[in-house]
Amino acid sequence: MSQHEITINRDQVFKIPALFLQQAKKFKEMMLLYECAVEEISTKLKILDRELAHLTPRNPIAMIKSRVKKPQSIVDKLIRDDCPISVESVRENLNDVAGVRVICSYIDDIYTLSNMISGQDDIRVIEVKDYIQNPKENGYRSLHMIVEIPVFLSAGKYYVRVEIQIRTIAMDFWASLEHEIRYKKNHKHIASVSDALQECAETIALTDQKMLDIRTLIDDENDTD
Ligand code: GTP
Ligand code: MG
Repeated sequence: MSQHEITINRDQVFKIPALFLQQAKKFKEMMLLYECAVEEISTKLKILDRELAHLTPRNPIAMIKSRVKKPQSIVDKLIRDDCPISVESVRENLNDVAGVRVICSYIDDIYTLSNMISGQDDIRVIEVKDYIQNPKENGYRSLHMIVEIPVFLSAGKYYVRVEIQIRTIAMDFWASLEHEIRYKKNHKHIASVSDALQECAETIALTDQKMLDIRTLIDDENDTD
C-alpha cells in the first residue's frame, strides 16, 4: 500500500456522508448570515442617502454594489493565506466574504458616509484603511472599512463582518479598469503599463479635487443668494 493511501473502516464510511452534510449545512447557514449582513449594510446606506438627499440638494451615493464571495474564492483565499479550511476559519480569518462597494459623487461624500456608518451604535468598526489619504503605490484610492453588524435570526444575534469600500465614480472607473488589466496575462509592457496606470490615477485624483472645488463654489454661491 502506498504511503498516501487512506484506509477507511466500516464505521467511518457511514460517518463521512453525515459529516459532509453537517459541514454543508453549517456552510449554508454562514453564507445566509453574510447575505443578510450585506442587505443590512446596503439598507443603512440607502437610508443615509435618502436622508441626505432630503437635507441637502443632492444624493451623495451614485451607486451601491454588493457581493458575497463565491465558495471557490473563499477556499482559494484560505489556502493562499495558509488558514484551515473550515466554517470557523472563514469567520475568523476572512474579512471580505461580505462586500459592499459604495460609489460616491464627491470625495467629501466618502467621509460623510463613513463617519455616519461608524457613528451608528449597532455597528462595530474593526478597521479603517484610508487609501485616499495614503494611496497604494500603484495609485489605488478608496476608503476601506471592516465592520461587524448584528444579524438577528430565530436562534439569536450574530455579529457578521462586512468589508465596505467607499470611493468616487472616478476612483471606481480607475480601479475597475486596473483590475481588468492586471488579470490580462502575458502582456509585454508590464512596466510601462503600471507607470501609465499610476499617471491616470494621479490625473483622476486631481479631477476629483477640481470637481469638489467647483461644487463647493456653487454651494457657497447658492448659500449667499
Ligand atoms: P485582500 O487580501 O485582497 O483582501 O487584501 P487586504 O486584506 O490587504 O485588503 P485591502 O484593504 O488592501 O484590499 C481589499 C480589496 O480592495 C481587494 O480585494 C480589492 O477589491 C480592493 N483593492 C485593493 N487594492 C487594489 C488595487 O490595487 N487595485 C484594485 N483594482 N483593487 C484593489
Ligand atoms: Mg479582499
